[in-house]
Order: sequence, then structure tokens, then C-alpha cells
Amino acid sequence: MVQLRSLAHAVALIAIAAAAAVPLARHKSDPSHNGFNSNTNADPALKAALTGATSYNDRQAILFTNPPDASNITFSYINNTVTDGTGGTIALSTVNNFPALIGTEVAMAIGFVNPCGLNVPHSHPRANEILTVIQGKLIGGLILELNNGNTGHIVGQPAPAKGPIPQVTATLSNYTGMLFPQGETHFQFNPTCEPALFAAAFDSSDPGRTQIARNFFSNMPDEVLLASSGDLEVLDAKRIAEFRNNIPTAFAVIMEECAVSALHY
Ligand SMILES: *[C@@H]1O[C@H](CO)[C@@H](O)[C@H](O)[C@H]1NC(C)=O
Ligand SMILES: *[C@@H]1O[C@H](CO)[C@@H](O)[C@H](O)[C@H]1NC(C)=O
Ligand SMILES: *[C@@H]1O[C@H](CO)[C@@H](O)[C@H](O)[C@H]1NC(C)=O
Repeated sequence: MVQLRSLAHAVALIAIAAAAAVPLARHKSDPSHNGFNSNTNADPALKAALTGATSYNDRQAILFTNPPDASNITFSYINNTVTDGTGGTIALSTVNNFPALIGTEVAMAIGFVNPCGLNVPHSHPRANEILTVIQGKLIGGLILELNNGNTGHIVGQPAPAKGPIPQVTATLSNYTGMLFPQGETHFQFNPTCEPALFAAAFDSSDPGRTQIARNFFSNMPDEVLLASSGDLEVLDAKRIAEFRNNIPTAFAVIMEECAVSALHY
């Protein structure tokens, strides 16, 4: 299988996305979706053929049967902008909806973040990400990993310290990018009253997305949730049930935070 793993590819993808100021809607998606471009209309035969390709020559023969037509290696990210108050949306290309990525190690997201919109804390289990703000302003936040020696009760080591885990934040605008390392928890927030647009490159064609709050609250037995949250009295079965049904899929809105963001950021 041909591997096109290189940061240069990812950076080039960002530049291309930035140049495409008005995305054309070639791949349609349902605007009432959960925050993600849900197009899965990729041709299964093309996917199967590319999965079986063993060399770049094989890939070329599959992808370019009709030069100079390059449509098998183009992807149009939809302007998924939805009304204010809904947080935002992401148009994503991965091996699922863009077969040409099969055999590469890149994927791309174009994000439309509404005023006060929050791309809720999540991680990408299989990819590093560089997110670059093309228009508007975003706060990028990265929660740090615990140091070695602070991850559990290790024989001969002191008990791990309690308390908040540090995070780092940055204000991103004017083509400033931020690295979100593979597997690490991160979020983005638009603290302004103007929409923001970002392009994000991934070094996997199948980056995945793990939702932190949703994962934690979804299906664990109540006792497990309670014990792992320090047996807080505010968390009873009723509260947990409420959490479960109200956790956003991808985007949320922080109106209060937005209104006072000038004080915070
Ligand atoms: C996306 O579409 C919205 C609504 O049509 C429009 O207001 C906005 O300017 C567009 N954004 C971009 C980046 O093209
Ligand atoms: C895209 O790939 C498919 C599968 O090989 C092929 O049938 C089709 O003609 C290709 N399109 C172009 C424009 O080359
Ligand atoms: C972005 O750059 C432009 C031109 O240098 C400047 O006018 C604008 O204030 C900058 N915007 C932000 C949000 O920093």
C-alpha cells in the first residue's frame, strides 16, 4: 500500500482549503445533521479497488481513467453554516467519504463555528491535527496529559496528586494554527459575535473522534460514574440520566462566556 505520510501534504491541504474561499457543494449533506458532514455516498467499487491497490501505478490506473479529469481526487467541503445559536458544523473528508484518501495518511476538516460556538472537548485517537483559523477568531484549548508517575498508584511512587489537570490555551486568528497532538483532549471556542472558519489537517485518513463528556456519561453503570467522580452528592441517578440525554453531539454554545469573553481571553 502506498503511504503518503508527510506533514508537507497536510500543510498543502490547508493552503488549498484556504484558497477555496467559497466551497462548492459537490457532495451534498443534510443540514439538520448532528454537526458533521454526513456524506457517505462514496462509490463502494472505487473504495474496494483502492483498498486492493498495491502500488502507486495501480492507484493511478484506478483514479485517473479519464485524464485530464481529476474529479476522483477532489473533494468539495460544503459551507455548512447554520443559524446562530447552534454552535457550528464541520465538513470532514476521510476514507469514508473520499476514497482517494485510502492508502494515504491525511484527512481534512473545514469547520464553521458560530458566534459563541464551542467545538466540545474531544480527541482524535488516530491522528495529530493542525487546526488553522482562516476567518474570525477561536480559542484553542489543550488539556495536558498526566506526567509519568502521576497516572496511577505505582509501587514505590507517591500516590498521584489530586486536583485539576493543567491545560494550555491560545487565541487563534489570521491564519494562526495550533497543533492538537494525537489522542489528547482539546476544544475550540469562538468568543466573538462573528462566525469563524477553520481548516484542520490530520495525519491519518481515519482520524476518528472521541467525545469526552459523551463517552464518560453514556453507558457506564451509575455506580461506576459516581465512584469515578468522587461520589459527588450532586450526581445521583436522576442527574446522570439528565446528563446522558443532554450531552451535545459535537457543538455547543456558551452564551454567558461569550458575552464576557473580553474579560477572559
Ligand atoms: C457560508 O454560508 C453562509 C450562509 O449562506 C454565509 O453567510 C457565509 O458567508 C458563508 N461562509 C463562507 C466562509 O463562505
Ligand atoms: C474514477 O474512478 C472510477 C473507478 O476507477 C472510474 O470508473 C472513473 O472513470 C474515474 N473518474 C475519472 C474522472 O477518472
Ligand atoms: C488580522 O490581520 C488584519 C490585517 O493585518 C488586522 O487588520 C486584523 O485586526 C487582524 N485580526 C485579528 C483578529 O487579529
